[in-house]
Amino acid sequence: MFYTSFTQIIPKSLRAFLRDRDTAFQKLIISYENLKLEHENLKLFYHNFESENQNLSSENKNKNIPNVMNQKTLEYDLQKGRIVIESILSSSLEELKNRDFLLEKIKAYGCPYQGWSLYSPYQQYINASDYGSLQIPTELVDFLIYCIQKKPQSFLEIGVMYGGFSVLCCAVLSKFNQNFRYICVDIEDNFRDWDYFSSILPLKKAIPATSADFIGSEFDVVYIDADHSYHGMKRDFLNVGRYGKICAFHDINAAEYDHLEGGTRRCWNELKLSYCQSASILEISHIAEEWMGIGIIDFNK
Ligand SMILES: C[S@@+](CC[C@H](N)C(=O)[O-])C[C@H]1O[C@@H](n2cnc3c(N)ncnc32)[C@H](O)[C@@H]1O
Repeated sequence: MFYTSFTQIIPKSLRAFLRDRDTAFQKLIISYENLKLEHENLKLFYHNFESENQNLSSENKNKNIPNVMNQKTLEYDLQKGRIVIESILSSSLEELKNRDFLLEKIKAYGCPYQGWSLYSPYQQYINASDYGSLQIPTELVDFLIYCIQKKPQSFLEIGVMYGGFSVLCCAVLSKFNQNFRYICVDIEDNFRDWDYFSSILPLKKAIPATSADFIGSEFDVVYIDADHSYHGMKRDFLNVGRYGKICAFHDINAAEYDHLEGGTRRCWNELKLSYCQSASILEISHIAEEWMGIGIIDFNK
């Protein structure tokens, strides 16, 4: 009865149009679901690929390269590192405030050798050994320029690994405050060339230690780059980051830690939302893909 009246009332052409529209809509939904699935698979592939690259330890990273070659490249890069740090110490404040000048120093100092494809725009910065600053060079220079303006007296880095970032940062910032001190925290001691660098820079070593050993302490800058799980990064912030004048975080874009209860990205996004009303939030992100990035919470103290 209804069908008869429907076919009588609705012209055939309109019925055909409605039917075609429904079919097209169904097809759209199916393609959308397929795309979503493909996206998830790609994300998984990307995540596995990046973790594989990162998990290569220094000894098997270049497994086709004899150890003697690694040793020689490391010696060369460490020597080069000394020369760059010394040249920073003898540069003028005006020179160091200049972004191009500082970026040239970062280039000469170099980034550790990695197979990471996302480093490709920065080939000129890559060292032959695994020594260097494990940061995106242009993100690092903008972070340093930001810190220079604040002339900090104390800097706490949580997670220093080989100290590649620490010595560079310490050399630059020590020029702007004669009472400057830089505290290096890590659970393992892998700091390279410590005796030499600690003899020319105001470095202090707190290794083995974690942020819990500094709970409630106030620093001008706290740099968190240690445990990249959501809870690890959050606890570093709660232990010491929130008491600083500035708290900075490495890897705010790093998707490869998402599987660690949401990793650094979840933690950063939460903190950013929580503090954006009471503090200044800055994000230094130069790689469009989901990688690295430095986040700053400036408490304006
Ligand atoms: C990504 S590396 C740091 C890289 C370094 N900041 C740089 O830019 O060259 C992470 C370091 O954090 C250390 N680490 C891991 N968990 C930690 C924790 N709970 N407290 C302190 N250090 C930790 C690791 O031993 C490792 O050396």
